[in-house]
Amino acid sequence: MSISLFLGENLMLDRISQMFARKDKQAGHEEEFDESGVIPAHIAVIMDGNGRWAKNRNLPRIAGHRAGMNRVKEIVRAADGIGVNILTLYAFSTENWKRPRDEVDFLMRLPQEYLSTELEELVERNVRLRMVGSKQELPGHTLEALEAAEERTSSNTGLQLNFALNYGGRKEIIQAFTEIARLVQNGDLCPDAIDENVIAQHLYTGEIPDPDLLIRTSGEIRISNFMLWQLAYTEMWFTDILWPDFTKEHLFQAIADYQGRARRYGAV
Ligand code: FPP
Repeated sequence: MSISLFLGENLMLDRISQMFARKDKQAGHEEEFDESGVIPAHIAVIMDGNGRWAKNRNLPRIAGHRAGMNRVKEIVRAADGIGVNILTLYAFSTENWKRPRDEVDFLMRLPQEYLSTELEELVERNVRLRMVGSKQELPGHTLEALEAAEERTSSNTGLQLNFALNYGGRKEIIQAFTEIARLVQNGDLCPDAIDENVIAQHLYTGEIPDPDLLIRTSGEIRISNFMLWQLAYTEMWFTDILWPDFTKEHLFQAIADYQGRARRYGAV
């Protein structure tokens, strides 16, 4: 496909997604959360339903992913606006490589496309961007864009925006075990010193605190290999809304529900 055809197709998909997004917004509703109450410090999101969103409109699946990317823009702004500390978005799983080549290629171009229009605003907002996941299999162009953005925003102290890309919870645990086993083998770590902190530090998320709230869109009630260790005590919020329809009002609704929950961590 020529570059101009690719760009032309992207522009068209963008217009169609915006048209539907405007229509969907008019039908939306406001939900209140307590702005002086506890805002979840770390929100993680499984952004699901792009394909179904596109199918419902007789559009190609990639149109759903493009509309999904536009939602990312809105949700990042909203999370930053209400003082969320960390937002982790599941953008591509280790299992997503099984999808058709064209779709994978499209998804792998989304980070740089997003950053090409959003990076300046992220910098202005003092957002720190980070990728969590395995960098090994990523195409060079994807990795370069992400690493440049990580570098550019590395000293920012506001919202930490994590893109979970080529992320798989089991793969993450395996590589943590491998690193820890190597330390033990080399005599740098005593087996008795292996505790929750040691394991957490060897995960992709390292020092990042566990999510307080997990949101999954599109009506699927499962974790799908996402943050298996980190979600141990996370509050979960599932909605039938498809990700491209997920507005900041839905985010606020999830936060309002979160504020009504009692987190006991196993205590009474
Ligand atoms: C799952 O929906 C969604 C994905 C595999 C991709 C998610 C990516 C985005 C929302 C855009 C990310 C943007 C940036 C900037 C990285 P699905 O395709 O499985 O939907 P379906 O279950 O309805 O088929």
